[in-house]
Amino acid sequence: MKLHDTALRAGHLLLARLPIEAGAVRLRALDPADVEDFLAYRGDPEVARYQGWQPGGREAALTFLRDAVPPPWDEGDWAQIGIARTEDDRLVGDIGLLREGVAQVQLGFTLSRGAQGRGWARIAVGTCIDTLLVPLGIARLRGITDSRNTPSLRLLQRLGFEQTMREDLVFRGEPCTEITLEKVAGPDLR
Ligand SMILES: CC(C)(COP(=O)(O)OP(=O)(O)OC[C@H]1O[C@@H](n2cnc3c(N)ncnc32)[C@H](O)[C@@H]1OP(=O)(O)O)[C@@H](O)C(=O)NCCC(=O)NCCS
Repeated sequence: MKLHDTALRAGHLLLARLPIEAGAVRLRALDPADVEDFLAYRGDPEVARYQGWQPGGREAALTFLRDAVPPPWDEGDWAQIGIARTEDDRLVGDIGLLREGVAQVQLGFTLSRGAQGRGWARIAVGTCIDTLLVPLGIARLRGITDSRNTPSLRLLQRLGFEQTMREDLVFRGEPCTEITLEKVAGPDLR
């Protein structure tokens, strides 16, 4: 019961803290009105190359956008938040947050091709950790990525994640190596 109450509060608090302005990007709730932008970048084979989840079509995408933050945000649940361009609020990406425990989250992140290579993912994911997750008491963070996904590995390393595990497996019929990186974050006590 206590864990459920915490999860319920966290689900709502995630949305209550949005939007968060972060320079060129803004973290905000996803919305069914984002469907065209969402389908465009999530349906881009280059963007989806190392990702397990793909939108099944317009209806599935609308459901995904509508149900992006489950209340309660229980252990085992994904919550998704949007990354929008500050200048016009157009959706350029999203961050997935898998609740792995009361104080632990696994992060996934996606940016449209046009928004990559500008430092926007670093700002968005860093802000998500520092401004959204840490104040909710979520201090243990994990990222799991294919070893060939250099931009993803570099992003996590630049954010202070360190490799804790490597695992050889098969993804879409191809052998690959999955790297787990972790970070313990907390309020700056200096
Ligand atoms: C993973 C992903 C989000 C990284 O995006 P990204 O734009 O490369 O990440 P960053 O925001 O950290 O940007 C870093 C790049 O911007 C460049 N950059 C340009 N201007 C910059 C600025 N003002 N500030 C910081 N970096 C800047 C950096 O030099 C860096 O390029 P480099 O790695 O070649 O040196 C993106 O590649 C993506 O969406 N991939 C597809 C989905 C995916 O595979 N996700 C991971 C698995 S869940």
